Amino acid sequence: MTHNGHIDGQTQLVGIIGYPVAHSLSPQMHNAAFAELGMNWRYVPLLVQPQRLAEALRGLLALGFRGANVTVPHKVTCIPHLDSVTEAVSIAGAVNTIRIDASQGRLEGLNTDMSGFLTDLAVNQVSVNEESRVVILGAGGAARAIGAGLARSGAEIAFVNRTLERAVQIVDFLRASWESCKVKAVGLEDLAEVSREATLIINATSVGMFPYTDVSPWREGVPFPKGAVLYDTIYRPLQTKLMRDAERSGLRAIGGLGMLVYQGAAAFELWTGKKAPIELMRRVCLEHLNQS
Ligand SMILES: NC(=O)c1ccc[n+]([C@@H]2O[C@H](COP(=O)([O-])OP(=O)(O)OC[C@H]3O[C@@H](n4cnc5c(N)ncnc54)[C@H](OP(=O)(O)O)[C@@H]3O)[C@@H](O)[C@H]2O)c1
Repeated sequence: MTHNGHIDGQTQLVGIIGYPVAHSLSPQMHNAAFAELGMNWRYVPLLVQPQRLAEALRGLLALGFRGANVTVPHKVTCIPHLDSVTEAVSIAGAVNTIRIDASQGRLEGLNTDMSGFLTDLAVNQVSVNEESRVVILGAGGAARAIGAGLARSGAEIAFVNRTLERAVQIVDFLRASWESCKVKAVGLEDLAEVSREATLIINATSVGMFPYTDVSPWREGVPFPKGAVLYDTIYRPLQTKLMRDAERSGLRAIGGLGMLVYQGAAAFELWTGKKAPIELMRRVCLEHLNQS
């Protein structure tokens, strides 16, 4: 069925709950996908203050929304207000997508950041296995989802974070989930030591993100490990200072746009049951990122 673009009584709604939310590329990405597939659906930004989160989530049900994304600062705090969560959420400790079962009046929390990251790694033909040594910079929600996604690969994983305590918490959690996983927590001062033999370095901090684009989370004077791949989860800007510095040292650098697109595509497919037009979604994000 094609749809001519107007909103009417049949229009189905999804949206993104965040605070702030205006910077999100998800409305453009999803609305372009709905238009491409001729679907009478719309994706709207929903600015929700932290103290009104519970009301807003129940409001989605009352208003007949088909689903939602969740972004900062609600990814963790939304969990107690949901009716169920998937295994990926229990592991990552965060929700970025909600599926709504209107007939049962239920909200289900999912995490597509983890699968989005793993899909993008696979698409870029970066394999992670028992031989791999992974350094994850950061210990926030993204680091935890990525670390959990990689923990079962058998790779050695070091979480390097400014606040060591947060890295220790992730490591304790992962060890409790998979006894055999090879994970450790390291302070920033030990980056040189832990990264010497790394095969994959992942930036899961916000350091280098727009508008503070002239900084890098990599400690000055620490050499990049030869032959490693650098994955920066940041997508604004498309090329970060860390990526430029790593490339100058001969590393292959991958930015976070693919992760963004694949987490969005996974959410789209969960809500609509249709295959997401991934290349269109990537093109739309690229256009907006190149303009901003
Ligand atoms: N591509 C995608 O689709 C995608 C999806 C999700 C997230 N991300 C990216 O992932 C990154 C982290 O997001 P998040 O949700 O995990 O955020 P978060 O939970 O707020 O964690 C932020 C992390 O950055 C570290 N950090 C912040 N400022 C720092 C500084 N000045 N020096 C050193 N470390 C600093 C924090 O360290 P402390 O613990 O010491 O504060 C923490 O580890 C962001 O850049 C975001 O864009 C990308």
